[in-house]
Amino acid sequence: MRWWPIQQPRQIKFVNTEANPTVTLSPSGRSFTSHPHSTLLESGLSAGIALPYRCSNGTCGDCRAIVKSGHTEPVRFHDYVLSDSEKLNHTVLLCSSRALNDLEIEVIEASHPQDIPVQQLNTKLCHREVTANTLIVRLRIIRGKVLRFLAGQYAKITIPRCEPLLLPIASCPCETGYLELHLPMHLSDHCRTLESLRRSDKIAIEGPYGAFAIQDSTLYKGHHIFIAEGSGFAAIKPLLEHVIATELEPQCTFYRVDAEPYKNNLCRSWADAFDWFTYHTVPDVDTLLLALNEKQCTPPATYYVSARNKHLTNCLRETTKSTVIIDELAFAKQSKS
Ligand code: FES
Repeated sequence: MRWWPIQQPRQIKFVNTEANPTVTLSPSGRSFTSHPHSTLLESGLSAGIALPYRCSNGTCGDCRAIVKSGHTEPVRFHDYVLSDSEKLNHTVLLCSSRALNDLEIEVIEASHPQDIPVQQLNTKLCHREVTANTLIVRLRIIRGKVLRFLAGQYAKITIPRCEPLLLPIASCPCETGYLELHLPMHLSDHCRTLESLRRSDKIAIEGPYGAFAIQDSTLYKGHHIFIAEGSGFAAIKPLLEHVIATELEPQCTFYRVDAEPYKNNLCRSWADAFDWFTYHTVPDVDTLLLALNEKQCTPPATYYVSARNKHLTNCLRETTKSTVIIDELAFAKQSKS
């Protein structure tokens, strides 16, 4: 009699590629939504999570993470070769994989600015925009490199024929191939040179520097007050974008001390879009201090301040019972003002 093997029912993976899977990080317990057309790294960075990475194209191996549960699939070929033991313990590259269903992955995020080393890279100018008192430039990082940094940190920029400048990085860390910088027009030499640069001219970047960054643990409680004086907006902007990306919706108030605030419409659009966000412009520091006095936030409030006015930072430090986080590099900025 002919014998037929009993067919085992096929193991079918019920993967949901339509919905947006949730990725939970171990040991921190933080989570983010993975978007179907993004890598795990892109989704995590867009959610404001400081995942480890260096190249973002599958070369360096810095973004390795262990999948504890759930399924991923590779989205691109990668040059980095995982060892046999890494394959056995389900290690994947976050920059080259996407989630197929809910995942738990083991990975260590950067929680302090000191966790991120200083890097050097070259960029080229790809966009410039002149507003009333500020030159906004976007730089494209060349040779497929990326700059890893936390929202609120600074970079040293070396423009041909000019002194190096320390400036806040005004873009989100999730825009891995690009950097945005805001130069006040009083830096006339640098602005003039940037306006005359050819597309092929290289601009060297070194960073990140500074410890002005959001403390994520504070986002779960209390009121957050952001204060930007003049060009300090460049340091506060990525912090606000980070808060928006986390979707935690903490109560936030943003004060700009500026008679002629650039990118005013952007701030107004945040206030229109989010009912937990309010926005005020004040012409000077005295008016701001009066407004803060009247507001009398009940602690715990956390202040994030990027201002060069010592009177303002001293007043906040001395009078408020809340946590005050000062952008110390704002004082180390370029000498002309
Ligand atoms: S960031 Fe370099 S391999 Fe993923």
